Amino acid sequence: MSETLALRGSLLHFLRDPGDEPAGGAAQYFDDGILLLRDGRVLEAGDARALLPRLPADAARRDHSGKLLLPGFVDTHIHYPQTDLIASHGTRLLDWLERYTFPVERRFGDPAHAREVADFFLEELLRNGTTTAMVVGTVHPQSVDAFFEAAQARGLRMIAGKVLMDRNCPEDLRDTAQSGEAQTRELIGRWHGRDRLLYAVTPRFAPACSAEQLRRAGRLLEEFPGLYLQTHLAENREEVAWVGDLFPSSRSYLDVYDGFGLVRPRSVFAHCVHLEDADRRRMAERGAVAAFCPTANLFLGSGLFDLAAAGACGMTVGLGTDVGGGTSFSMLRTLHEAYKVAQLRGQNLSPLRALYLATLGGAQALGLQDRIGSFAPGREADLVVIDLAATPLLERRLRHAESLAEKLFALIMLGDDRCVAATYVQGRIQALPGKRL
Ligand code: GUN
Ligand code: FE
Repeated sequence: MSETLALRGSLLHFLRDPGDEPAGGAAQYFDDGILLLRDGRVLEAGDARALLPRLPADAARRDHSGKLLLPGFVDTHIHYPQTDLIASHGTRLLDWLERYTFPVERRFGDPAHAREVADFFLEELLRNGTTTAMVVGTVHPQSVDAFFEAAQARGLRMIAGKVLMDRNCPEDLRDTAQSGEAQTRELIGRWHGRDRLLYAVTPRFAPACSAEQLRRAGRLLEEFPGLYLQTHLAENREEVAWVGDLFPSSRSYLDVYDGFGLVRPRSVFAHCVHLEDADRRRMAERGAVAAFCPTANLFLGSGLFDLAAAGACGMTVGLGTDVGGGTSFSMLRTLHEAYKVAQLRGQNLSPLRALYLATLGGAQALGLQDRIGSFAPGREADLVVIDLAATPLLERRLRHAESLAEKLFALIMLGDDRCVAATYVQGRIQALPGKRL
């Protein structure tokens, strides 16, 4: 039986990248809008006055008037097993990995533990309005089975993969080039393209992968259509220098990955802080993507991503929380820190571009713009309902906001999970504990 649902509220979504221009037609906004959904997809988005008189007779209605409906947020880089180490004090990348990350990841050989964390993680994403993410598992294939099972149970569109690491990491967390490939193949067979789930080949980063392991990763990408690649690139200066020592014949860190055929469409490189323009241009030519992870880059003292250089070189950028190196599951908080990183670089991130990056921009980064990221007809109906009066300070600040851009900027600077009143997945409202509609 077909199900039709009309949601009333303010609607905002994007048709393309607004760049640094104000409004200009890239954004579509209906102050009093109707979002009409059928069987988990968008049928139409428009003005309430125009749509109300011609709603299908069988349409159920839900009133979110006074709230803002946005496409669900897209997080292009996050580690679900690192949920329990978020906010660990006092280190930078390489000692952070040793001191905090590996001990926590060790526990994911236990499928029951993995499932318990995956369930918490997905509920936390939904509480923050994030409906799609590109997710790193651990070296254990069962970590990825547990994650996909939990995502499948919730009807979510998720991309994930098992970490490949066969050197420069604790012995008991190593795979081998052969076993990593075999496990990856099994996981692809079980999950890639099943329901809304997609697989990402996941070499941790060049220092933890032998040349043979990276070569096999490249071959897998050639072999299976539509596979993703996720890894880390040029996050921290010490890491970059280490890669130089490990791969002396490569021109740059990116060049290591490129040499194994890993720089391609649907390849997402987290961080990209310490890159030269030649690398940025190479990524643009190859159609590869940078995941900008501002909270992690600040927290781990890694450096300032150059959003303007990325744009000038034509590189596609998505936003990532990078939990647990990152300090928040909230894409609003992540945008807040992205704004400050741009400030420190003498650049300016407009509120519209920021929200584009968190929605359609993320979808485009993941090649999913025909499925998610906007309210265009036919898109999967994943969305977030934002309460702009969720905190006393935000409510007060917005009383004297004059434009939409001003309101959105205040939301980005002052908002977080408290502003997420509801999240819908495939047109179904999710129960969010502790939330009032
Ligand atoms: N580089 C290699 N592994 C990791 C990780 O788990 N987190 C971050 N932020 N960087 C990495
Ligand atoms: Fe990461």
